[in-house]
Amino acid sequence: MRAVSFKRKILCIGAGYVGGPTMAVIAAKCPDYAVTVVDISAERIAKWNSDRLPIYEPGLDEIVRAVRGQNLFFSTDIEGAIKENDIIFVSVNTPTKTFGAGAGMAADLQYWEKTARQIRSCAESDKIIVEKSTLPVRTAQAMERILTATNSGIHFDVLSNPEFLAEGTAVSDLESPDRVLIGARETERGQAACRELVDIYAHWVPRDQILTSNIWSSELSKLVSNAFLAQKISSINAISALCEKTEADVTEVARAVGKDSRIGSKFLSASVGFGGSCFKKDILNLVYLCRYYGIEEVADYWQGVVSINEYQKRRFVMRMLNSMFNTLAGKKICLFGFAFKADTGDTRESAALFVAQELLAEHAKIVITDPQALENARIDLQDDDGVIDYVDDPYAAAAGADAIAVMTEWSLYRELDYERIYRAMSRPAFLFDGRNILDHKRLHEIGFNVYPIGKVALTHV
Ligand code: UDX
Repeated sequence: MRAVSFKRKILCIGAGYVGGPTMAVIAAKCPDYAVTVVDISAERIAKWNSDRLPIYEPGLDEIVRAVRGQNLFFSTDIEGAIKENDIIFVSVNTPTKTFGAGAGMAADLQYWEKTARQIRSCAESDKIIVEKSTLPVRTAQAMERILTATNSGIHFDVLSNPEFLAEGTAVSDLESPDRVLIGARETERGQAACRELVDIYAHWVPRDQILTSNIWSSELSKLVSNAFLAQKISSINAISALCEKTEADVTEVARAVGKDSRIGSKFLSASVGFGGSCFKKDILNLVYLCRYYGIEEVADYWQGVVSINEYQKRRFVMRMLNSMFNTLAGKKICLFGFAFKADTGDTRESAALFVAQELLAEHAKIVITDPQALENARIDLQDDDGVIDYVDDPYAAAAGADAIAVMTEWSLYRELDYERIYRAMSRPAFLFDGRNILDHKRLHEIGFNVYPIGKVALTHV
């Protein structure tokens, strides 16, 4: 199946949101490398081999179509692939532990450890192992210990290469990254392994953007990057609560503050709360690490970023409840968007899930619409009781509703005909813009009672 002329063979274990796009881009940029992606889920692999990929990312379909079968292969033969490949990326999921010590905080490493053991039992030659999953600091060391536990004579070099891609922009983030970070041991072998990985990225990333460091710095940098980004959002969200009380406008405040180049304008959009698979998980990991080392003040500081996010989500629902006469029972509320952000179908840790569940607890009837995430929304809410409808068309979804709540900043919600929507809704009609993406003044003129985030409400009473 494979041409013998490939310079190197790369394997990635884990065909998820990180592994799939990363390997597709490496394959596209390095035609001299054969890239194989394996996963325990046969269904997921079948989707990667089909016309409908298991994840939605702008630009990904085109890349996969161009390189699949040339130098990009998707397979379920994990053991065979471990034998055959020299460089193995590990990109399995490391969710937050739901049981035992560190439950709700520490990373659950069971999939990752199983993978390490599987690599050890199948490998017949030396390998470079690249940690791609976000892992607690010092995991590379644990991986080395598992890999070398049997004295088989086979040598494993473990590198840390954290992923900084954001969903929805995965392909462009991979094609033009701000930086690539590679952590390696300071031994001769460690440095040689590091050079192998640098060579791969150097196919398309300028050398001065490929940073190398020791393994622990690399692992920690990933957690810290996400913690800093999330901190910016929690900071502006905290201020949004104050804006609502003082009649300041959070967008104006963010614009003024963000103009200071030392602060920067990105990640300063107030919202119903950040979501996604990484932010909360990584911060809790950081908190756990600090508590483990007894640095309580530092742990509390970062815990605050997560606490403000929970507060922001609760506050959003309370604002809905208070403004709708303190009862939502029997009212129909339409959620515009369920994905944790625009341009993805991913709903992990989405604020929309929390809002939906709180509304159901108030006995509201909810209607969910989203261009990409309805399938995941159904799965997320499958165990919840109450009236839940899933509707593709936003006009049909909002018809007869008492309120609309914008959960995801899909651009299509900006372009809807809100006069038409208003005509088909119950009166008084409420609109809660959890993303501040709509033209609030115009909506108010149409007749809506409008509740943005961090701005005074525009009402008719
Ligand atoms: C994030 C990091 O950006 C990425 O570098 C890392 O590798 C993985 O975690 P991702 O989870 O895909 O990526 O999403 P991101 O774009 O960072 O957004 C996270 C959440 O913050 C979303 O819910 C988004 O809607 C929200 N957000 C973002 C805000 O509420 N306000 C903002 O100003 C920016």
